[in-house]
Order: sequence, then C-alpha cells, then structure tokens
Amino acid sequence: MIASSAGPARQLEDRICVVSGAAQGMGRSIALMMAERGARAVVVVDRVESAEVCDEIRDRGADALGVMCDLRDRESVRVAVDETVARFGGIDVLVNNAGVLERAFTNDVDFDTVPEALWDLVMDVNVKGAWLLSRFAAPHLRVSRRTPAIVNAASIAGRAAFSHAVYGVSKAALIQLTRSMALTLAPDVRVNCYCPGTVDTDMSASARSAGAVDSRVSAITETNLIPRLARPDEIAELACFLASPAASFITGAAYDVDGGAMAWRGHRRDPDAGGSSSRH
Ligand SMILES: NC(=O)c1ccc[n+]([C@@H]2O[C@H](COP(=O)([O-])OP(=O)(O)OC[C@H]3O[C@@H](n4cnc5c(N)ncnc54)[C@H](O)[C@@H]3O)[C@@H](O)[C@H]2O)c1
Repeated sequence: MIASSAGPARQLEDRICVVSGAAQGMGRSIALMMAERGARAVVVVDRVESAEVCDEIRDRGADALGVMCDLRDRESVRVAVDETVARFGGIDVLVNNAGVLERAFTNDVDFDTVPEALWDLVMDVNVKGAWLLSRFAAPHLRVSRRTPAIVNAASIAGRAAFSHAVYGVSKAALIQLTRSMALTLAPDVRVNCYCPGTVDTDMSASARSAGAVDSRVSAITETNLIPRLARPDEIAELACFLASPAASFITGAAYDVDGGAMAWRGHRRDPDAGGSSSRH
C-alpha cells in the first residue's frame, strides 16, 4: 500500500475516483474538490449529461470521464465500471453519492400514502444502485495499491424519522450497507458514510418548494445548533477526508455533518420573532 502523509492540499494524490450523481449538487462539489486535491482522474457517473462538470474537473488539473448511467439498470452500472477501468486502469475511490427524494415526485410522502412505484424508485436508486456500483467496483478496489475507500452518502434521515418515509428507510439501509461492505472488504478497502442535515442543493430546494413542508429556511434549520443550511463544499470536505489516507483507521462508520441537529432535542425560535432557544 502507498500511504501518504500529505495534508488536505494533496490528500487524494494520484487516485482514480468515481463519484455517482456528480452532474450537480453535492456530488459535483465532491468531484471538483477531489480534482483540486490531487486526484489523477474523476469519473462522473450520472443519469444526465455531465460534460460541464467534466470540463470543471479538467480545469482543476485532473483527467475526467463522464459516463451516462441509470443506477437502476444493472447493465448500465456494469458498463460504467468497465469504461472507467478501460480508460484509467483501475478504481481507488468510489463515492456513492447519487440519490433521490420522493418529494421531488409527490407530496404523498408518509409510509401509508407513498405510491408503491415511488417506494421502489427510491429504494432502487438509493440502496440498490449503491450496492450494484460497489459490487462491480469491488474487485478493482480490492487490488488498488492507493489506500482504496468507498464513501456513501447517507443522511440524518436514516438516523431519526422525518416526513419522508421511504427516503429515511433507504438512508438507514445505506448506513447498514456501509457496515456490511466494511466487514466484507476489511482490512484493505475502508467503507464509511456521512449523514448530512439539510444542504443547499436542488434536492432540498425541491422539498422546500413543494409546499407540503414549512418552506422557510429558518423552519428547516431551527433544529440545528448552527442555524443555517449546509453548503455542498462542507459535505465534500468530509467525503474527501473519508476517502483519503488521513482516515486510515476509520471503517464501518457513519458521521453526522448536520450543524448539530442530532446533538440535542429542541428547536431555536425564529430570530425574527425575537425568541431564544427552547429545549424539550
Ligand atoms: N440535499 C440535502 O439536503 C441532502 C441531505 C442529506 C443527504 N443527501 C444525499 O446526498 C446525495 C446528493 O444529494 P444532492 O442534494 O446533491 O442531490 P441532487 O438532486 O442535487 O443531485 C443528485 C444527483 O444524482 C443523480 N441521479 C439521480 N438518480 C439517478 C440514477 N437513477 N442514476 C444515476 N444518477 C442519478 C441526479 O441526476 C443528480 O445529478 C443524495 O444521496 C442525497 O440523498 C442530501
């Protein structure tokens, strides 16, 4: 194994990194940060076109490949991994970032109202898609000599119930899949996940604009100790750390990156209403 003591500036030196769902949002932020931090190549696996992000990756000094792939389609996932290996010779880091939220399709998001087809869609993308991509990538990660790692995008919705039943179930499953994969791939391939609170991306915007939840940012962030939405780059920092050799003794773990939302039981009053924090 090549271990590196390089600081964050080059923390992914020479790595071949695959990031699913990197055409936008947090995945894009992770892909660009990986390029800035020394990755040899960053592969964007997404169901939509990713030429623009690939140009941004190249601007940051890494090689780039965009692969159109629907994670619900086993064959398309297999081809994505094959194309990556054919082009770059291996895989050192996999980030299972792609995900969907049922609110983008319906306001019926409770367990007893969510349409069955949407239950399947969310589970297929968020859980089975991550499983398939990891499964096809695993033989290549196992033979990597550059501190291989898988990093999964879970959510605090996988830790505590909130108003999207199937999304929460899918993220809880991803936390457990992280542990299963860590067990199977130990000690050579580390597998971890991070659990964001609400992040400022299209996904959270679609939930807010759907109108079925209180769409004020202050209402969403009043359970945070740091009372704002997260920026995508704040999540990317953790993803890059977990993918890097600096996390060499961390595997099978789940990290909250949520502005303290899971650290207490209460909510802050809207500062505009002149109140202070309350605890229950
Ligand atoms: N935004 C948040 O507040 C938040 C909070 C916690 C966790 N997360 C998780 O972080 C990850 C990224 O979230 P985001 O907010 O950047 O989302 P986003 O909706 O902005 O981006 C998701 C990306 O995944 C891709 N994708 C969706 N379905 C796909 C499929 N079937 N095959 C391939 N690609 C597909 C989309 O094309 C898109 O590029 C997701 O797993 C999400 O569940 C988000």
